Amino acid sequence: MEPTAAPASVEPILKARGLWKVFGDDPQRLFESDLKSESKEKIQEKTGLVVGLRNISFDVHKGEIFVLMGLSGSGKSTLIRNLIRLVDPTAGQIHIGGREICAMNEKQLMNFRRRSTAMVFQAFGLLPHYTVLDNTAYGLKIRGMPEAERNKIAMEAIRTVGLEGWEDYYPSSLSGGMQQRVGIARALAADPEIMLLDEPFSGLDPLIRRQMQDELIQLQSELHKTMIFVTHDLQEALKIADRIAIMQDGEIIQIGTPEEIIASPASDYVQEFVRDAYPATVLTAGTIMEDPEPEIHVWQGPQVAHTLIHRSKRDFAFVLDKQKRAVGFLSHRALDDLIRRGGNSLEAAMDVEFETCTPEMTVEELFPLATASPHPIAVVDEKGKFIGCIRNTTIIESMIQDEPEEKEGEGDV
Ligand SMILES: Nc1ncnc2c1ncn2[C@@H]1O[C@H](COP(=O)(O)OP(=O)(O)O)[C@@H](O)[C@H]1O
Ligand SMILES: [Mg+2]
Repeated sequence: MEPTAAPASVEPILKARGLWKVFGDDPQRLFESDLKSESKEKIQEKTGLVVGLRNISFDVHKGEIFVLMGLSGSGKSTLIRNLIRLVDPTAGQIHIGGREICAMNEKQLMNFRRRSTAMVFQAFGLLPHYTVLDNTAYGLKIRGMPEAERNKIAMEAIRTVGLEGWEDYYPSSLSGGMQQRVGIARALAADPEIMLLDEPFSGLDPLIRRQMQDELIQLQSELHKTMIFVTHDLQEALKIADRIAIMQDGEIIQIGTPEEIIASPASDYVQEFVRDAYPATVLTAGTIMEDPEPEIHVWQGPQVAHTLIHRSKRDFAFVLDKQKRAVGFLSHRALDDLIRRGGNSLEAAMDVEFETCTPEMTVEELFPLATASPHPIAVVDEKGKFIGCIRNTTIIESMIQDEPEEKEGEGDV
């Protein structure tokens, strides 16, 4: 069992433990047989039962976007529906906000769904004879909130998704992207503990879809909602997820941050997905940077700097001040020139024009910096302290590298 000693603040908002969903007559008979650990096909062949979910356990933390990713038929929709018992799990436990979902009766369950959850579907799920405003306020209306109050909250949500001015229109006069914004506004207006989004952008054109993803990320940076987001698209998952659970045949086969999934896919199935992904959107400066050594300080003499650079087997260094902030870029060549001229201040040889970045920036964001300056990029922490550097060639290589396993195989990291 889970340890219970964790402080309340780190307790996950959702805990799923040992969830199974078995479709068919009398599914409990699977648990009384020794077929439980057999493959989905074998179970179906021997019993006629279909394993929809197999022994699923995971946590979702407050404020995170947790993505369920997998091919069509892998069980994503079944899982998201099981979590709020739109479909009843055959075995296992679900806790949301400390409540035991499987122990609830119908009335408690309905109340819980209305107050604590909101769903956004691929097919938008808007009511055609309701205006944008009424659609957005719908969840509040069924909770019994008075009209003036719910309209005020709904208007706020409509503004948040950028649909101000459209509140009196009907869904049919809106584009797909706009309709899905209404779906999201309705979920936001309900202010749920958890938002469940089942392929919300899958029905949209690629361009609109990317725009909606950007907007969701923007929204999340302001609102910090807890979201469980289903997609069959790894690109989308990598872009928006804090963590991803990868599903195959009703099981979760890997859980990790986008970077963990890209860097070490847990199976061939995950590897297949990753091969198609574009690492530039997930690899960060912190992952590809080189150490900050050698540490060269602006008050040191050229001979000392020369020795340190030589020993580092690099042909450049960043020059640091007392606070360890990078104040200049020093190439081996410029340093040699300085020594030849008999100069004694590093300041005369260093170039103060160079680019800096933070360790969280993605390779995609670094690319314009790499083209803006011939020098490597200095990586600095939030206090401006120099913590590493990245050569422009490293950035370009990481953008074109599309088969991560090759790099490992060659062993020349
Ligand atoms: N009502 C049902 N009866 C029998 N099997 C079902 C039912 N619903 C879902 N399944 C099974 O669960 C699997 C996963 O379906 P689903 O959760 O819709 O996948 P996804 O959302 O990942 O595309 C399906 O391949 C199917 O075998
Ligand atoms: Mg589905």
